[in-house]
Amino acid sequence: MFEHFTTPEQIFLYKLGMALAMEYEAMELHTDLDNAAMGGGVKDLVLAQAKENRGHVGMLKECFELLGREAHQFSSPTSKALGREARSFIGKVSSPLVDEVVLTSLLEARHHECGVYESLAIHARAEGVPGVAGLLEQCLREEQDAIGAIRSAVAESAIAASAAAGTAPPTQ
Ligand SMILES: [Fe+2]
Repeated sequence: MFEHFTTPEQIFLYKLGMALAMEYEAMELHTDLDNAAMGGGVKDLVLAQAKENRGHVGMLKECFELLGREAHQFSSPTSKALGREARSFIGKVSSPLVDEVVLTSLLEARHHECGVYESLAIHARAEGVPGVAGLLEQCLREEQDAIGAIRSAVAESAIAASAAAGTAPPTQ
């Protein structure tokens, strides 16, 4: 689409396209994390995240529509790298530790998505496109809420794994 950016709008549209690619990458990652997850609770969390991500794809497409542009994707190298790292890591850990890797992979991916939505929302607000900014802010809030839920699950899983391994710190 652009070979060289000369306006903030071009940068915004490019980043919006990267965000769409990021969400599609996340969908693929969720499928793999769901297949890898061992515990029912972790699987449920992954599926809930996957459902929310499909909503984000819809909201990003709506942003393009509001801007009068065709929805498009631009490759997101960071999302691809996060996915590769998660798949590789899962392949390297023994079964009782897989869920911890699934959860931390989810947490890391969500933090990346938060950063992307935060900068897009700030830009949309500054550019005076409140409908688009509102959708991006909604995505950001959902990513932040998801981080809270995943963080609790990571903490529970880490405590359980430490206790099982006999490395938990002594309680006072
Ligand atoms: Fe998302």
